Amino acid sequence: MSIRVGILGATRGLEFARAARRCGVEAEFTAVCDGYAPLLGKVKASLLELGFEPAYYTDYTGMLEETGIDAVIVANSATDHAQMAIAALERGIHVLSEVLPAQTPAQAVALVEAVERSGRHYAYAENYCYFRANLEAAMRFRRGDIGDLVAGEADFINDCSQRWHLLTRGLRGHWRNHVPATFYCTHSLGPLFYATGRRPVRVTGFEIKNQEYLRIHGARNGSAAMEIVELDDGSYFKSLHGNLKRPWVTRLNLFGTRGSIESRNAGEFTVYRENEAATGYNDFDTLPGTFSPVPGVAEAIAQNAEAFILAAFLGAIRGDANLARYSIGIYQALDMALPGMFAHRSVLAGGAPVAIPDFRRQADRDKYRDDNRCTDPGVAAGEELLPSYSRGEIAIPDEVYEREATLAAEAMEKQFRLGML
Ligand SMILES: NC(=O)c1ccc[n+]([C@@H]2O[C@H](COP(=O)([O-])OP(=O)(O)OC[C@H]3O[C@@H](n4cnc5c(N)ncnc54)[C@H](O)[C@@H]3O)[C@@H](O)[C@H]2O)c1
Repeated sequence: MSIRVGILGATRGLEFARAARRCGVEAEFTAVCDGYAPLLGKVKASLLELGFEPAYYTDYTGMLEETGIDAVIVANSATDHAQMAIAALERGIHVLSEVLPAQTPAQAVALVEAVERSGRHYAYAENYCYFRANLEAAMRFRRGDIGDLVAGEADFINDCSQRWHLLTRGLRGHWRNHVPATFYCTHSLGPLFYATGRRPVRVTGFEIKNQEYLRIHGARNGSAAMEIVELDDGSYFKSLHGNLKRPWVTRLNLFGTRGSIESRNAGEFTVYRENEAATGYNDFDTLPGTFSPVPGVAEAIAQNAEAFILAAFLGAIRGDANLARYSIGIYQALDMALPGMFAHRSVLAGGAPVAIPDFRRQADRDKYRDDNRCTDPGVAAGEELLPSYSRGEIAIPDEVYEREATLAAEAMEKQFRLGML
């Protein structure tokens, strides 16, 4: 069965096309939409080299209505995914959504209900769950290697300051310049929820101060964040994520009743298992990080997070139950994302713990279906418009954004590559 796939957002969205080609995922990319016309010009030639010849659009509705696509990869601004996903689902189109699923509780409720009404597949492309070592940790946790969950912690450290101009193109209103520091939480929290299947019930958020190395590029928010998330079984996850001065890293620690699993840098992991020596001191076996095969998934695909996500999504559409079980659905996507959304409310309340709703439940939906509080002036106004930063508004002169825009335009000419720049 041939599935025609459209892509919204010609930056990150195209990583899926590259991965499909490289890893042998059968996918037909027939449409690409991006509102930034200069980018489309560049993308065309590169996609042709990969053997794809999609129709190009600058208008999303046009792509949804004119191209006959069966599925869409929603990879536009991280704050605008819910509306785009709903527009597709209402037209009977399956959705693979980049991070994050929604910007506000009201959007999250509308998205859940749109998925349920549509009967179409919604998958959340939280790629950190599919990095080989994080996936191994998940598989081992689920089969009981370390016993029951006691606690978990994860980091996602990604200092984007040196390429802020490429990411924001000097747009004052770009989401990276205004979202709360806690917003982008699913690269750290996601793999913990994916492994354990637990649900968040309460969060305490911590905002790390706005740093000059980001402010000089236009960021008006905290530069990193932490969340402590209480789970439905009374255990806790700790998450640290953001722009800290260290080369990129993802780390995951799961602590169980019989041992723990650590994963690092996407490709390394260690298991510590309590043994029977009973000397009373450090009686743990350290097991080497040997990867298990991923049942039903070709190794080339299992090695590449984007290929794996796409294969699972397309498999679910084709009715392949084995591939479908690797996909992340809407309820778990929100388990991963709501802690960051509500952590900002905790930060603004001076660090008080804040309850996290469960939008599987009708009562929670009704409570939040009109709650659009967020930091985006395109979505919220008046009292609903929350400050991006808890320590006071950060004023940034126009010249900063003008300089970033110039650098971005120059880079588009000199260093374009398909996917994230
Ligand atoms: N999973 C990962 O590892 C990872 C890494 C980077 C980015 N991302 C995600 O990928 C997405 C894209 O990231 P980005 O930094 O390139 O974001 P971005 O805000 O710069 O937008 C991406 C592209 O979408 C286009 N776009 C935005 N709104 C549009 C609209 N209404 N119509 C048509 N085109 C539109 C923009 O012109 C841009 O080229 C985000 O959701 C981000 O969270 C994920």
